Amino acid sequence: MNRRLFLQAGGITTLSGVFPAALTADTASTVIDVTAQPGQTNIVGPDFPATDVWGFNGEVPGTPIRLRLGQSVDATIHNALEVPTAVHWHGIRLPNAMDGVAGLTQPAIAPGESFHYQFTPPDSGTYWYHSHVNAYEQIGRGLYGPLIIDETTPPVVDRDLTWMIDDWRLLDDASISGDFGNGHDRSHAGRIGNVPTVNGRFRDVVKVRTGERIRLRLINASNARNFSLSFGDLKPSVIAIDGQSVTPYVTDETIVIGAAGRVDLILDMTGDPGSKMPVVDNFYRQSYDLTQFVYEQSPLRDQPLDSAINLPPSLIPEPDLANATAHVVTIAGGAMGGLQRAKLDGEWMSLRKVAQQGYVWAINDVVGNKLRMPPLIDTKQGSSIILTIRNETAFPHPMHLHGHHMKLLSIDGKALSEPRWVDSPLVMPRQTMKFAFVADNPGEWLFHCHALEHHAAGLGALVKIS
Ligand code: C2O
Ligand code: CU
Repeated sequence: MNRRLFLQAGGITTLSGVFPAALTADTASTVIDVTAQPGQTNIVGPDFPATDVWGFNGEVPGTPIRLRLGQSVDATIHNALEVPTAVHWHGIRLPNAMDGVAGLTQPAIAPGESFHYQFTPPDSGTYWYHSHVNAYEQIGRGLYGPLIIDETTPPVVDRDLTWMIDDWRLLDDASISGDFGNGHDRSHAGRIGNVPTVNGRFRDVVKVRTGERIRLRLINASNARNFSLSFGDLKPSVIAIDGQSVTPYVTDETIVIGAAGRVDLILDMTGDPGSKMPVVDNFYRQSYDLTQFVYEQSPLRDQPLDSAINLPPSLIPEPDLANATAHVVTIAGGAMGGLQRAKLDGEWMSLRKVAQQGYVWAINDVVGNKLRMPPLIDTKQGSSIILTIRNETAFPHPMHLHGHHMKLLSIDGKALSEPRWVDSPLVMPRQTMKFAFVADNPGEWLFHCHALEHHAAGLGALVKIS
C-alpha cells in the first residue's frame, strides 16, 4: 500500500470543494438527467496533477440530487462510459425494479444507452446513489453522489452541509491505482486507500463562523474504509442514522460511520474566531486529520441557537416481534477466519478450492458467488423478521439490506435503550447484532457486505419477499 503520497502531501490545501447546484425542482416530480462519464478532478491539491475519474456528470461526488418528501424522482441515467453500469439508490425503500442491481433487478445500461428510474422516496433523510455494476471498481473510480430528501419542516440551521467521505488509492502521480479487487483486498479489510477525502478533496478546509449551527450530513462512499470521527471539543448532536431520525443525543464520543453508512449531525460551532480545529479519524491504528474547520474572524452570533433540532419520527412500519420469524445469519471466512469449507454452487468444497475461484467469504456456509441464488430468506410480504447477524471473522462488515431498513435491537445480547433503524450496520469482528423488520417490499433483494471487495468475494445473499 502506498502511504507515501498521503504522508508527503503535508500541508492542508485550500480548495473550494463546493458542490455544483443541486438538481431540484419545485414541482411534484424532480426530473433529472445524469450521465455516467469520465472526468478529471484535482483530489490531492495544486502540487499534484488532476486525477482521471468516472463520475456522474463527470463530477466527484456526482451531481447532488435533492428533493422534498413527497416529490417523485424521474431520473434518466445515460451511460457515456465504455463499460456497462446501473444506478442503485442506497437506502431508499423503492420498488424492486428501480433498485439498480444489474443482473438482478434490471439489465445493465450498455455504453451509449440510458435507463429511466422512477420512484417516490417514502422517507426524508440522507441517502446516496452509486453504481451497482463492478461496484468495487466503479465506486472506487468515483461513481456516486448524494441523494437528499428534505423534511417538510426541517430543523432551522444556518447551513446544511453534505460531506461525502471517501478513500482513494492513488499512485504518486495522483492517478487511481488500477489494482481493483485484488486477492489481498478481497480476503482482508477491503480496498483501504491512502488518500481520504471530503467531497473529493484531500485535506481541504471548511470555513465556519463562531455561533453558527450546521447540519452536517456524513455519507461514507468508501469502498471499504470505516471512519471514527472526532470533532475536538465540539459536542455533536446525532439526529439521524442511515437517513432515519433518532431522538437527538449529544455525544463526546467519536462518530463511527461504516462504509455506506450515513450520520446526520447538528454542530454548534463554539470555537473562537480565527481558530482552527481538525476533524480526526481514528478508526484504524494511524489517526489523521480528515479535514479542518477554520473559523472566520467575525462571529455569526454570541450564543449558539437553542431551537429544537429533532427530526420527524421515522415512517417505517414497526415489526411485530411476538409473531416474527427468526433467522440467524453467520458470516465466516476471510484471512484469519478459520473457515474450512463452504458451499459453492451447491457443492461443499474446501476453502482452498473456493479461494481458487476468487471467493473467500460465506454466509451460513454458502458462498454468494452470484446475484441470483437460492434465497437466504424466503418469506411472505408483510411478515416480520428477526435477523441475528453474527460476525465470526477477523474483519468488520457493513451489512446492507436493499429495499428495507432494519431496526437494531441489541448488540452482543445487550438491548439498545433506543432501538434504531439502519440500512448499513457495521458489524464488528466477533460481534452479534440483532435486528427486526417488516418484509413489506416484494421482490428479490440483495443483502451484502458493503466492503465492496468482500461482496465480490462472496459476502452476499438474497432475501426474497413474495
Ligand atoms: Cu449501496 Cu448493494 O449497495
Ligand atoms: Cu465485509
